[in-house]
Amino acid sequence: MEARNESREPAGGARVRKTVTIVFSDVVGSTGLGERLDPESFQHVMTRYGSEMRRVLERHGGRVEKFIGDAVMAVFGVPVLHEDDALRAVRAALEMRAALADLNRELDRDYGVELGIRIGVHTGEVITDERVLDQGLIAGDAVNAAARLQASAPTGAVLIGPETHRLVSSAVRVRRHGDLELRGKTGRMRAWRVEGLAPDRLRLRRGGGAGMVGRRRELQALRRRFDAAVQTRRCVVTTVLGPAGIGKSRLVRQLVSEVEPGARIVVGRCLPYGEGITYWPLKEIVDDLGGVSALERLMPGAEQDAPAAAMVSGAIGRSQSTATAQDVQWAVRRLFESIARPQPLLIAFDDIQWAEPPLLELIEYLSDFMTSAPVGIVCLARDDLLERRPAWATAFGRGATLRLRPLSDTDSAKLLRGLAGREAARLRRFEILAAAEGNPLFLEQLVAIRSDDPSRAVPPSIQALLAARVDGLPHHARRVIEAAAVEGREFHRGVVAALLADHRDVNVDAGLEELEALELVRPAQRIYAGDSGYRFTHLLVRDAAYELIPKRRRAELHVGFADWLRGPAAEERELDEIIGYHLERAYTYRRELGRVDALPHRALAADASGYLSAAGRRVLRAGDRAAAVNLLRRAVALRPAEDPERASLLIDLGGMLGEEGRFSEASAALVQATRVAKACDDSALVARAQVERMLAHVQVDPDRVARQAARFGGQLARTLTEADDHAGLARLWHLRGLLSWIRARAGDASECWRWAAEQASLAADDRTLADALGWEASAATQGPTQVDEAFGRCTEILARLTTNPWAAALVQQQVAGLHGMRGEFDQAFALLDDAHEALAGFSPTVDAAVSHPEVLVSMLAGRPARAERHLRAGRRQLDAMGEKAVLASAEAMLGMAVLAQGRVEEADRLGRRSARLATDGDLSAQVLWRRVRAVALTEQDRPREAERLARDAVGLAERTDYLNDHAGALEDLAQVHEAAGDPDAAQSAREAALDVYRRKGNTVSSVRLERALAGVAS
Ligand SMILES: Nc1ncnc2c1ncn2[C@@H]1O[C@H](COP(=O)(O)OP(=O)(O)OP(=O)(O)O)[C@@H](O)[C@H]1O
Ligand SMILES: [Mg+2]
Repeated sequence: MEARNESREPAGGARVRKTVTIVFSDVVGSTGLGERLDPESFQHVMTRYGSEMRRVLERHGGRVEKFIGDAVMAVFGVPVLHEDDALRAVRAALEMRAALADLNRELDRDYGVELGIRIGVHTGEVITDERVLDQGLIAGDAVNAAARLQASAPTGAVLIGPETHRLVSSAVRVRRHGDLELRGKTGRMRAWRVEGLAPDRLRLRRGGGAGMVGRRRELQALRRRFDAAVQTRRCVVTTVLGPAGIGKSRLVRQLVSEVEPGARIVVGRCLPYGEGITYWPLKEIVDDLGGVSALERLMPGAEQDAPAAAMVSGAIGRSQSTATAQDVQWAVRRLFESIARPQPLLIAFDDIQWAEPPLLELIEYLSDFMTSAPVGIVCLARDDLLERRPAWATAFGRGATLRLRPLSDTDSAKLLRGLAGREAARLRRFEILAAAEGNPLFLEQLVAIRSDDPSRAVPPSIQALLAARVDGLPHHARRVIEAAAVEGREFHRGVVAALLADHRDVNVDAGLEELEALELVRPAQRIYAGDSGYRFTHLLVRDAAYELIPKRRRAELHVGFADWLRGPAAEERELDEIIGYHLERAYTYRRELGRVDALPHRALAADASGYLSAAGRRVLRAGDRAAAVNLLRRAVALRPAEDPERASLLIDLGGMLGEEGRFSEASAALVQATRVAKACDDSALVARAQVERMLAHVQVDPDRVARQAARFGGQLARTLTEADDHAGLARLWHLRGLLSWIRARAGDASECWRWAAEQASLAADDRTLADALGWEASAATQGPTQVDEAFGRCTEILARLTTNPWAAALVQQQVAGLHGMRGEFDQAFALLDDAHEALAGFSPTVDAAVSHPEVLVSMLAGRPARAERHLRAGRRQLDAMGEKAVLASAEAMLGMAVLAQGRVEEADRLGRRSARLATDGDLSAQVLWRRVRAVALTEQDRPREAERLARDAVGLAERTDYLNDHAGALEDLAQVHEAAGDPDAAQSAREAALDVYRRKGNTVSSVRLERALAGVAS
């Protein structure tokens, strides 16, 4: 018998890429046989053998591809896939062996010979061309692997490979065979020897171990209908509908367990193919009842019972009987009526989407004519039933169909917990829940697959199930689903129509309707105006459809979609990332097919790269560095080695990586950039790469970068000026700003950053502009600029940064610092909290890890614990980045915060650590650690060392223009003097400090010192 699906046309005339199962068998020792037998007899034997094998293979739905000598190759999955292709193939292989045993008896009798056979079965991806139906071209490694398994099998054995094993393991008994070396390929392949089929656990299959979740309402509805049958003593038919794995059988199992003691239960299941006889489910029911011999016992009394029993056993092939369909209906009704006489009867027909028409008609007949027996009939079917038999939905009155929807989120989560138990936390819980979308079978399978191989995306059994559905679609639907899959989970009618413009034979609306009727897609919100939107009901369906498209066609469709996006239909949105993605996919598939040198392919890659880099710059402006890095990397990968654009993309990428603190990656990108720029002989590009390298290193080894900048800076500036490279100049001035800043010359740095901002403006380089402005704000707060003036400058800067929330947040912190110095702590802390929250939305950077204003304000407000918390968090981030320059001063600041809380020894340790980390040129850190240690040593009664460090700190601070640090160093010196019993020296140090604080406009510290001095004076 033919499988139902195969009555449909395969998706007309196209190459498809699919996972099929291949059976490869060969006769053992036929050469010897040829010598022993007369050629004519030999010919006869081999023909008998060949036709016998073909019969078996075809009966299971396989297609015999070729005979090579005595070897037979058959494919399961062409012209259409079935969810159980692998199992069909294995069953066919076992039956070939059995059929050969029968044949051998014949051959032995007639010729005194016997044949041996070896069989290999392998599942894998192939490309087939449906246009050549008879000579279906099957190509792929899978064929070789099947042949290899065959060649390694002992005589009489069936060997299967790992993919097949995964798909059939629950249905067969196997034994491990040794691994096979794969010729011409690297690596080995696992193999199993199939011993036989596992005992069939038929009854409402899939005995999931977990308890039932949800479905209370549905169960009640089923229950009510069964009770109605019992009360009215009439046959009531209910059909449970829903996609594969949604839980139809599970639901009915539950119903069965609830009505069990009071009712008799029988179950009949339809088979997807094969051993099919029309009334197979009836045969199962009779077996349930105790077999044919029990029929007469069940139907005693009336004189018509004996012929009825004979007709039933005839219908299930257990006796010769010439009963018509009408006879069978009548007989079956009598049978069920007699069973239902002593107690109610519940009959379940499972998987009736595979039922032959006479069986469906039998059910309809029972519903109409069995009017005096308490019989409930529950039919279970996948949605395709209605496609084959639309009238079924309304045949049994209101409430007769029950549609199972996906489980709710809560129920899914509950089921997952039940399945994975403690493991649930370890598994990627949300990912699994999201992928399963309320389908309990998918959930189970995903858990199973995740626990033993987390890298595998979709379990093979589910893949097979969905691929079979898509592959079996009628023509229009099949073409439409492919185009839709390329657009994505959400798609549009207009896009599909545009993509299929060259397929005149495809009716898009008909296809969409078919897909909707099968619940593969449903209408959804549209993204593009004037179009109608759709959505795949399940992401896995989209993936399955996509997988079936050959790469060449995928590339075409991706380009087609990108073109559509570039057209008028999709205006007004930021589509560069999506367009870039589709062009990138198209290029990747073409590369995999080995056709990339041709000019159009290069152009495609360049096009893709252009869109991705534009998208990268856009998301960077919005502050999403991590996404920008990803996009830029992809843009780089699409450029050939000698393309100047590649160099400039690498320079941008290196810059971003440097800012993210990924220094070694930044370095690698920039070294590459230099190499490409040199190969292109572009001196300005080389200069930019060098500037960017210094920028990336300035945080790691500032002294070295300072030396390099001193040596090459002038030349680099000239080269960039000659080339009118404002962007390059902006970066160079930014570098100079940073170097001055590290030398604690905030005034100079500020000047450099003004230049950088100007050049960046000219180059329309928003990123560097924002950086330069942000840094200038820091310099204004920390350097010689008076608080009120700094306020004005920061306000101007903020006004220029309205489109850059990240940079604006950093400037806000500086403004908080200024408020802090004025004693306006409420405003200061509110601003700090705001900024903190804004920055939390971005990936961490060196600049944002430790905030000087946060520390400054906390210390001024007498809240050193808050400063400590901030610094510890920042330190963890800096550590993770491998960052040192900022770490040295962060460590010393932490020492101060700790000291202010009276933890002297700890502070001293931190001071020492900072001393080790600080580079010679990092004056700020050099001042800070000495201050910490000077005070700590005073507390530890080591005045001489303390005084030396305090004096050095003041000396170094004088070389900087960090006024607060300078004043602080003087205050610390005062404390040291005081402890050493020298109040006069202390007094004059304090007066000097007060002077510096006043210059800065640091009201809080000035007032504090004024009071202290007044206290001494009085
Ligand atoms: N409500 C539920 N609670 C717990 N487990 C469930 C539930 N529904 C289904 N399952 C489990 O999910 C798996 C799939 O369910 P089931 O076999 O009933 O699906 P089905 O709809 O009958 O699919 P098919 O169309 O392939 O026959 C089974 O292992 C079943 O035990
Ligand atoms: Mg089922």
